[in-house]
Amino acid sequence: MKKVIAALLILFASLFLGSREGSAFLLDAECGRSLPTNAKLTWWNYFDSSTDIQANPWIVSVIVNGKAKCSGSLINHRFVLTAAHCVFREAMQVHLGDFDAWNPGQNCSSGARLSNAYCVRIDKKIVHAGFGKIQAQQYDIGLLRMQHAVQYSDFVRPICLLINEPVAAIDRFQLTVWGTTAEDFRSIPRVLKHSVGDRIDRELCTLKFQQQVDESQICVHTETSHACKGDSGGPFSAKILYGGTYRTFQFGIIIFGLSSCAGLSVCTNVTFYMDWIWDALVNLSA
Ligand SMILES: *[C@@H]1O[C@H](CO)[C@@H](O)[C@H](O)[C@H]1NC(C)=O
Ligand SMILES: *[C@@H]1O[C@H](CO)[C@@H](O)[C@H](O)[C@H]1NC(C)=O
Repeated sequence: MKKVIAALLILFASLFLGSREGSAFLLDAECGRSLPTNAKLTWWNYFDSSTDIQANPWIVSVIVNGKAKCSGSLINHRFVLTAAHCVFREAMQVHLGDFDAWNPGQNCSSGARLSNAYCVRIDKKIVHAGFGKIQAQQYDIGLLRMQHAVQYSDFVRPICLLINEPVAAIDRFQLTVWGTTAEDFRSIPRVLKHSVGDRIDRELCTLKFQQQVDESQICVHTETSHACKGDSGGPFSAKILYGGTYRTFQFGIIIFGLSSCAGLSVCTNVTFYMDWIWDALVNLSA
C-alpha cells in the first residue's frame, strides 16, 4: 500500500509540478533510460537485430479479450500512449515488463503481479475527439489509464515526452516491433526487434496511400523489421542528449503501413499532439 501511495504521489507530482506555461520539462523525470540489450547474438538473430524488454522497458502490449491487439508506450506511472484505433469498447488490459508475449492473456484475469511484469486493467480510455470524423487515419491518438500506478524497474520504465517545446527535428527513428510479418502474423514472437526508419517526404506517403498525409503525421521508410500487425500504437523514438544524458524520446505512434508490412509506414506526430496529451492527462488526474 505504501508503495502504491508513493507511486501515486510521484504521478501527481510529475503532472502538476510543472505548469504548462513557461519552460520545457519532461513529463516524467525518470524517463528514457534503459539497460543495454541482453539478447544473445546467436546466428539466427544476429541478422534480424533482436532485442529485449530491458532495452525497451516502455513497450506495452495492449490486450483485448485476452489477445494482444496492439502496442503502446508507457509515459508515466499511470498512463499508456497508443493509437486511437487501438482503443476498444471491450474490457482492456495492458502488459508491461518481461511478460510472455506468446500468452499475453495469461494471468491478466487474476490481476496477479508477475515477476518483472505487470498486467493491469484499463479504467479510463481517451481517444482524440477528431478521430474517425474526417478521415480514418487522422487524429489517431489515444491514452489508456491503468487502474493503478506501476513502479519502475529495469523492465518497466517510461519513454520521454517533452512538454512545452519540440525536442529536435529528427530524421532517423528507432522503432521497436514484435517482428511479425505479413506472411506470419498468427502469433506475436517473444522477441522484440529493433529497426531504423528514415523520415521521408510526406508527399510520398500521400501518393502511396492515396490520402493526405499532413503535419500531424510522419511518413517513414524502414529497411528491415517493418511495423506490422500488432505493432500499431507502438512508439517511433530516438535517443537524444538531454540535460547531459542520452534518453529515448517518443516522436511517433505507428498507425498504418502497406499490407505487405514492408517499406513505407505512417505514424502520428506526437509533437503535434503534445498539448492534447497534456490536457488529457491533467483532466484525467483531476
Ligand atoms: C499464471 O497464473 C497461474 C495460476 O495462478 C500460474 O500457475 C502461472 O505460473 C502464472 N504464469 C505466470 C507467467 O506467472
Ligand atoms: C510534427 O509536429 C510539429 C509540431 O506541429 C512540427 O513542428 C513538426 O514539423 C512535425 N513533424 C513532421 C515530421 O512533420
